[in-house]
Amino acid sequence: MQARQRIEAEIAASGGWISFARYMQLALHEPGVGYYASGARKFGAGGDFVTAPEFGSLFGRTLARELRPFDRILEIGAGSGALADVLADGREYLILETSADLIRRQKEKLGNRVQHVQHLPAGFHGAVIANEVVDAIPAHVVHWTDGGILERGVATGLQWADRPATGELLDAARAIEVPLPYLSEIGLQARAWMRTVVEALAQGAVFVIDYGFPRHEYYHPQRATGTLMCHYRHQAHADPFARPGEEDVTTHVDFSALAEAAHAAGGEILGYATQAQFLVNCGITDVLGEANAENALHYAPIASEAQKLLSPAEMGELFKVLAVGKGMDRLTGFTRGDRRASL
Ligand SMILES: C[S@@+](CC[C@H](N)C(=O)[O-])C[C@H]1O[C@@H](n2cnc3c(N)ncnc32)[C@H](O)[C@@H]1O
Repeated sequence: MQARQRIEAEIAASGGWISFARYMQLALHEPGVGYYASGARKFGAGGDFVTAPEFGSLFGRTLARELRPFDRILEIGAGSGALADVLADGREYLILETSADLIRRQKEKLGNRVQHVQHLPAGFHGAVIANEVVDAIPAHVVHWTDGGILERGVATGLQWADRPATGELLDAARAIEVPLPYLSEIGLQARAWMRTVVEALAQGAVFVIDYGFPRHEYYHPQRATGTLMCHYRHQAHADPFARPGEEDVTTHVDFSALAEAAHAAGGEILGYATQAQFLVNCGITDVLGEANAENALHYAPIASEAQKLLSPAEMGELFKVLAVGKGMDRLTGFTRGDRRASL
């Protein structure tokens, strides 16, 4: 069965309407038909998007400097395994991945250098990394109107349809101040995910790296149509119903919400910075220097990689790093330009 039929069947069985979060769950993660769960190419030049670890090893080699003190790493949502390929250097490296297709690809690439786990290990000591994972966690869509707060879901024929918001979503939407009318997303499941990850951590740090903003920027009056974005063959567009199961559907991350959830679960906010600032603090220029010394010919591609990772016009500003920990000392990645006060 195709994703579209599977989703239509569920809408029909649910009385003609499902939440957008449920739609996103089915379109991305439903075994057999979801975009991540099925065999779509996804990553790299021949796929739909390129993540930082896919550009080359510079991102991983720089992050590795921050991760030196940790003798165990848990990567959540490891994609093609490109980051693990750089970071799994003999120490214990665990991967928690929901997609059966990607687990297979990761095992092919990484063999016994990594160990796959099916659940978050309780009482975990070490570093947890989630790069571009939270943007793929299903989000709810909310429509704030003069007539009240509505939840925007999906009706038969894959069309938007509003209903009064209720329960936890209504409470979360009421807590956000926006000019009316206003449309945006609320990541209830992302908050729950963050709580669960921090609860599982006994000692160490969680690094969430993704595109997003603190709450006051996320729900800015000028961002009145939300942050929903789809990625198909390196083109971004905003219609999540165009190719269900065949393309990535994402929302930006509300880092204030994640920080609150982490704090409520007993985590300490260790830092929040742009990706550029974080990588500079970790010593990306030293890593570039090493590459230059190794081989001048090798330098041009790695310099172009640095440009993509650091430039404000590319990933440098939009991507952020949030670190949360328990029983941790200061991290090098936040020694300058820590913006946690903006969360
Ligand atoms: C956009 S990809 C990023 C992959 C990789 N981290 C990278 O940077 O290239 C999202 C990854 O997260 C996985 N994923 C999504 N939700 C997840 C969840 N709740 N738990 C674990 N993995 C998840 C997907 O299957 C996929 O491997």
